[in-house]
Amino acid sequence: MIILGYESSCDETGVALVCTERGLLAHSLHSQIAMHRDYGGVVPELASRDHIQRVLPLTRQALDEARLTLQDVDAIAYTAGPGLAGALLVGASVAQSIAWALGLPAIPVHHLEGHLLSPLLATPAPDFPFVALLVSGGHTQLMKVEGVGRYELLGETLDDAAGEAFDKSAKLLGLGYPGGPALSRLAQQGDPAAFDLPRPMLHSPDLDFSFSGLKTAVLTRLKALEGQAGGLTESQRADLAASTEAAIVDVLGGKAIKAMKRSGLKRLVVAGGVGANRLLRQRLVDDMKKLGGEVYFPPLDLCTDNGAMIAFAAAQRVRAGLVDLADRGHAFTVRP
Ligand code: KG4
Ligand code: ZN
Repeated sequence: MIILGYESSCDETGVALVCTERGLLAHSLHSQIAMHRDYGGVVPELASRDHIQRVLPLTRQALDEARLTLQDVDAIAYTAGPGLAGALLVGASVAQSIAWALGLPAIPVHHLEGHLLSPLLATPAPDFPFVALLVSGGHTQLMKVEGVGRYELLGETLDDAAGEAFDKSAKLLGLGYPGGPALSRLAQQGDPAAFDLPRPMLHSPDLDFSFSGLKTAVLTRLKALEGQAGGLTESQRADLAASTEAAIVDVLGGKAIKAMKRSGLKRLVVAGGVGANRLLRQRLVDDMKKLGGEVYFPPLDLCTDNGAMIAFAAAQRVRAGLVDLADRGHAFTVRP
């Protein structure tokens, strides 16, 4: 079965074709990062309008790349949420319209399930069961994954997401949007031990996270440094970036390993945009080696939002018998 999938929950328009038997056939992607950069963050109205302009050319591009036509497609998948309402509506409308016109099933996909299953697109792919660390701009969760659709939430953030901690700290440091990659780049020139920043909830008995205090600590340090004679130096800025990254990675790594020990599982899977962070990857590889287990990441280009993970998650749900393919009339489903 060939599934055409759409992602439009935030600032990436993604379209992909996935075969339930052969895996990913093609995917096309447009990032709106350059458009939102001047505003320091995603402007929802601009995002929706840009999705509208990109979605059909990207559909054509993905079909051409896979050497397929719409007649070859058996089902249409789309991100139903969570995300920006207007942005979600674009992908959902296009997917539902094509499904309606061709008499195909439309499959709503939870954005986080897309991220969660995306490491299965890598080679080698992890077997079930595994623990997943889901770290994106909007979510930070630890999940026990027994199989497709069998997820148990082990812990999550009580306030900011890890990506948000990166983005907000980056903004304080005067770095561009999106802040995560920019902060990480600057951090490479700094000393991660220069500033002793808090590791919120690292030693709490649960598997939850909290990042809002870290952002406040960065702000306090920054104000103190800016107030000194001569102001903030470039090397101090890099040191603060490195110390911030180290604090976030320490907490994510510490809690992920605690979840591994508690679950008794040996496979850790990392998904979501922050999964692209180099320090986090290295840290988890090292820690999992010590634990005698393994860590899996999605291909680097599929860590942040994309259509491949949505079409792929739909394909996995179909394979697991979790989709009623006979249902042509499901309600227009968007859950911002
Ligand atoms: O999964 P994603 O593309 O979108 C959401 O569903 O939120 O994640 C975006 C987040 C942003 O907060 C971004 O700053 C962060 O992932 N991010 C990174 C890196 N690349 C992306 N954070 C730290 N280091 C990176 N290399
Ligand atoms: Zn995402």
